[in-house]
Amino acid sequence: MTRVALVIGGASGIGAASARLLATDGLTVAVADLALPAAAQVATSLDGNGHVGFAVDVANAESIAALFDAAENLLGPVSVVVISAGTNGYVDGKRPTLRQTSLESWNRVQAINATGPFLVIGEMLRRREALPVQHGRIILIASMSSQNAAVNSPASYIASKGAVTALTKAAAGEGAQFGLTVNAVAPGAIDTPMLRAVMPPERDAAYFSTTVAGRAGSPHEIAAAVAFLASPGASYVNGACIDVNGGMLMR
Ligand SMILES: NC(=O)c1ccc[n+]([C@@H]2O[C@H](COP(=O)([O-])OP(=O)(O)OC[C@H]3O[C@@H](n4cnc5c(N)ncnc54)[C@H](O)[C@@H]3O)[C@@H](O)[C@H]2O)c1
Repeated sequence: MTRVALVIGGASGIGAASARLLATDGLTVAVADLALPAAAQVATSLDGNGHVGFAVDVANAESIAALFDAAENLLGPVSVVVISAGTNGYVDGKRPTLRQTSLESWNRVQAINATGPFLVIGEMLRRREALPVQHGRIILIASMSSQNAAVNSPASYIASKGAVTALTKAAAGEGAQFGLTVNAVAPGAIDTPMLRAVMPPERDAAYFSTTVAGRAGSPHEIAAAVAFLASPGASYVNGACIDVNGGMLMR
């Protein structure tokens, strides 16, 4: 039976690249994002047939439950969920210092980047407890920024990604009994709309000149790690956070 992947935040960047690679690997992909048209557009562009776009707000529990209902009714039980939805925490195009960060802005970033994954993981664990699948996978997108806070990210973002890494471990402990692995990928600077909203390509030469790779990563290079974690062969990788940062941070 074809495995079903649900990619949340799948309309753009790393999520879209992950959806693409999972489809190429033979999975049927539910592409979910805030706006249905963008998600549907990605779904129809994937290799193979049967991929579907869905609307979801990852910060909203009812929206996530409705997404799982709709995707599973149409495609069958979700084997792989990728949580790539995220926001960078910039305000009006600027990186706020911690001192400038309002509680409202802090809460919004946590709601999307940390509470969203918590809600999705909870939904997936409950569903796979009720109806187990083979090779169940939960894959989160963390960030190098929570390991090296010197990169240009707001405190709200750095803290939210720290939560993602910790949540990965907590969920891995709980998911194992239902046959699920839970892992994260921690990208460095990746050439997506999120990065380009705050870093124009003209700054690349200076920014990356002191890094090992000397360039930004591509969304495909993160998707490759996601596809590995989704594969049956990754069955003994659990609770891990895989660095994919071109050597910007070695640990
Ligand atoms: N680009 C980078 O350099 C980089 C580095 C480290 C980590 N990340 C992380 O990778 C993930 C993907 O980011 P990206 O760079 O592909 O950005 P992107 O902006 O290209 O994609 C993010 C997607 O998330 C969706 N989204 C935002 N809020 C949502 C919500 N409430 N509900 C549902 N969908 C929502 C957006 O509509 C968008 O399609 C994010 O979690 C981001 O923090 C990115």
